[in-house]
This record gives sequence, structure tokens and C-alpha cells, in this order.
Amino acid sequence: MSVQANAPAAVIVLAAGAGTRMKSAKPKILHEIGGRSMVGHALAAARGLEPQKLVAVVRHERDRVVEHLLQINPDLLIADQDEIPGTGRAVQQGLEQLDENLEGTVVVTYGDVPLLTTELLSELVIAHDRDGNAVTVLTALLEDATGYGRILRADDDTVLGIREHKDASAAEHAIREVNSGIYAFDAQVLRSALTEVTTENAQGEMYLTDVLGIARTNGGRVAAVVTEDAWQVEGANDRVQLAALGKEMNRRTLEAWMRAGVSIIDPDSTWIDVEVALSSDVTIKPGTQLHGSTAIGTDAIIGPDSTITNTLVGRGAKVVRSDVTDSKIAENASVGPFAYLRPKTNLGPDAKIGAFYETKNIVVGRGSKLSHLGYAGDAEIGEYTNIGCGNITANYDGVNKHRTVIGSHVRTASNTVFVAPVTIGDGAYTGAGAIVRKNVPAGALALTVAPQRNAEGWTLSKRPGTPAAEAAFKSALDSGESTEPAK
Ligand code: UD1
Ligand code: MG
Repeated sequence: MSVQANAPAAVIVLAAGAGTRMKSAKPKILHEIGGRSMVGHALAAARGLEPQKLVAVVRHERDRVVEHLLQINPDLLIADQDEIPGTGRAVQQGLEQLDENLEGTVVVTYGDVPLLTTELLSELVIAHDRDGNAVTVLTALLEDATGYGRILRADDDTVLGIREHKDASAAEHAIREVNSGIYAFDAQVLRSALTEVTTENAQGEMYLTDVLGIARTNGGRVAAVVTEDAWQVEGANDRVQLAALGKEMNRRTLEAWMRAGVSIIDPDSTWIDVEVALSSDVTIKPGTQLHGSTAIGTDAIIGPDSTITNTLVGRGAKVVRSDVTDSKIAENASVGPFAYLRPKTNLGPDAKIGAFYETKNIVVGRGSKLSHLGYAGDAEIGEYTNIGCGNITANYDGVNKHRTVIGSHVRTASNTVFVAPVTIGDGAYTGAGAIVRKNVPAGALALTVAPQRNAEGWTLSKRPGTPAAEAAFKSALDSGESTEPAK
């Protein structure tokens, strides 16, 4: 978009409807696609116009909806719709939140049209301003226009009015140009026309669509902007449409990232939320989902089959077949395959969390490795430390959680258990199977397992006649050792 639309005086987002076809306890507009509620998308598109005022009209599940709206947009104005039904009434009550003498353009949009972009809204406002219209409606040509309001055009192509499906004649039903429900109005025209709108129609509602005919009768110019991108004006009424819109949104998100220099090997199996940020030369392998506020640095390789939520991944890092949430993975670090990084895992540069590791609330310093099979929770590990296979931080005593602090250049042997709280000094070692209950000073080797004692001839004596005893007997014969069972 090269031309910038003039900022409208206000945008009113209609969000009072019930959305019964979702068959959900959750209000329709709170259902999510692309990691954001439908109404969150509507507000984002509206905010992009930089309106002086932003209003949402609410009624159904009012408190739950308002809480969500104010969370994403604290300075949003809330208008409560009363029992008079219809989009006309909704807008009228939206206007009540605004200055009575408001001048300029008022844009009306819906809370359940999630693919609508600021760019398309700008086109609408630019055409509205340029042509000095009283009303400009966004329309689309549909193969099947059933249910929509139809656009009635004059010979000069300006708009005569809108006829609702339920009020339309057979001839009008044949019209394929439909009302999207998204408009730019002159504020004064809108306010005065709404006083003339009645509920005398098939649905007994105050139709906002009547404003177009009234504005024209009063001498205003009423026109339409036709979009070829019907997805942008499509609402989600049920979960089938929600899924279709979600898939299309994802397709658009992926395409934008690929054009920005991200390699996505298999767009069909990749899902990226709208708020995710990627750098150029990131590679996303099949089966990957990136959610929330995840951000990924250049040259990182993600996937296959990984799910990453609200996590910062540094440049050149690798995540393979893993699940990562609310964490940080520094540059050139590596995760997986099959790692489960729970919240507050902070993996340092060049560090590694390998196969079948679960982590939570840990800091791992530069170059340290937890390569195989273990659990690390509530722990701090210094730099260039190697945590052996199968190590466990026993961080929970059944009541409280405790910390394990491990220094730098430490080498822990296989199956070490750290019974927290415990501290291991720099350069210390542990022996295999150590159960570390006491602090280990820097440079010490912690041994907790009893020295090994071999009972010679035990198998022949205690398990005679078994295959193991036979094998032991043969081995002894071969090497010329005693084949006498131990006494
Ligand atoms: C409306 C339009 C129709 C258009 C269609 C596009 C009118 C009279 N008709 O029809 O021309 O083709 O949208 O989808 O405007 N809402 C309120 N308060 C209400 C009623 C609705 O806030 O009292 C909100 C809903 O939450 C929704 C939007 O307005 O976001 C549209 O409501 P809906 O009932 O879906 O409108 P339609 O009857 O489909
Ligand atoms: Mg309706």
C-alpha cells in the first residue's frame, strides 16, 4: 500500500452477537486462529488505521468479552447494546461513546471477520475520502450469495442501497455482489440516518444497511469498493468455517515469511502464529508449529516435528523433534531429538539438551551439555560442564522444590542423582550411579556407591543347571580356570 489513508475519527467494531452455531460455551469472537482471538484480529486491523477512537459494541457474554478486549486494548471504548436488536442499533450505541459533534470518517467492522487487513480497510477509507462519499461499503462478488445483504446499484454504478436476503425479491436474490458489513461513513450522515432507521423488516431488527438508502435519499453519494479477496470479508459462524479461515490465515502467514527469506520445507504441515517473528535464512522443517511470541534468529534450523511456544531461539540454533515452551535457546545451541523443554529453560550459547531430556526452570551456561536421558529442574549449570547420561535432579521433596547448583567444567558420571538442595563446585567429578546428597567441593570426585566385590564362582554354585551356569562353566574350561563351584 503506497498511499496512506487519513486516520478515521473512529472505528466501531461490532461484537454483540451470540454466535450460537459455534456450539460453544466460549463466545464466538474469543475463538482463536493464528494464535489470536477473532476479535483480536479485528482490533489489530482496526488499530492499523490509527483511528482517534476505537469502540467495541458488546452484549452477549458481555463481561467475559470485555475482559478480553481490555486486556488486548486497554484504551478501547466499550458500548453496551440494549435489547433492541440489529447492526443499526449496535452502531448507534457505539456512536453514543463518541462526541456528539464528531466529524470525519467512522469505519464499521465486525469482530468475527479475522482475515480483514489494515491494507484493505485503508483502501476503503482512501476511496471514501477521495470521492467525498457519504457512505462507502466494502463488497465482494460471491458464487453463492445466500444469506448476505445484496448490493443494489444505480445505472451510474453508485449504490442505491442494500437489501437483506430475507427481505429480497427473487430478482434481487440473483445479485451476486454482497455486503461485507464493513463500511466507511461520514460521521454526521451516519448519526442522522440512524434516527430514521426502523425495525420494520423481516427480522424486526434495526438494519445498519438501511443507512445507505437513507443517505442517498438525503443527497449523499453512496459507493462501493469491491474486493477480489473474498477471504478478507468472510466471517466464521461455525467451527468448520473457523478451521478454513485458520488454514487460509496460516497459508498467508507462511507465504509472507517465505517471501521474506525463510525456508519452509513443507507449508502443508507447518503452522505459524501471526505474532511469531522469524529472521531471514531460518529453515523450518516439516511438522513444525511455532506459537505465541516465539522469535527465531537467522540460520536457525527448526524441526522436523517440533512445537515451540513463546520462546526465543538464537541464531544458528537447532531444535529437532522437540517441544519447547516459555524458554530461551541461545545462539548455536542444540535441542533434541525428543527433548521436552518446559517453562524457564534458559539454554546458553553452544549448549546442548539432547535426546529424551526433560527440563524446567534451569540455566545452562555456555557450551554445557546434557546429552542423554534425564531430568533437570530448578538447577543452574555453569559453563562447559558435561552432565552424564541418565542424570536426575531430585528437586522435589514431596512438599517443596529445591535448587541444584553445578559449577563450570564439571563432569558427572552416568546415573548421577542430585538430591537438592546441593552444590557441585567447579571442575568436580561424580562417579557412576552417585547419589549426591552433600555438597561437592571444587575439584573433588564424589563417590557414593560401595566398592565392587566379585564373588568368584557364584553362578555355578548358586544357579547350577541354568544356561548362565553352563556358559560360565564353558568359559572357565576354555581359559583353564577352576570349574569347581564356590563353596
Ligand atoms: C449483516 C448485514 C448483511 C451482510 C452480512 C455480512 C445487516 C442488517 N446485515 O447480516 O447485509 O451481508 O452482515 O456478514 O447489517 N451484531 C451486533 N449487534 C446486533 C446484531 C449483530 O453487534 O444486534 C454484530 C454481530 O456480532 C456480527 C455483526 O454484527 O459481528 C453481523 O451480525 P450478523 O447477525 O452476523 O449479520 P447478518 O444478519 O449476517
Ligand atoms: Mg443476523
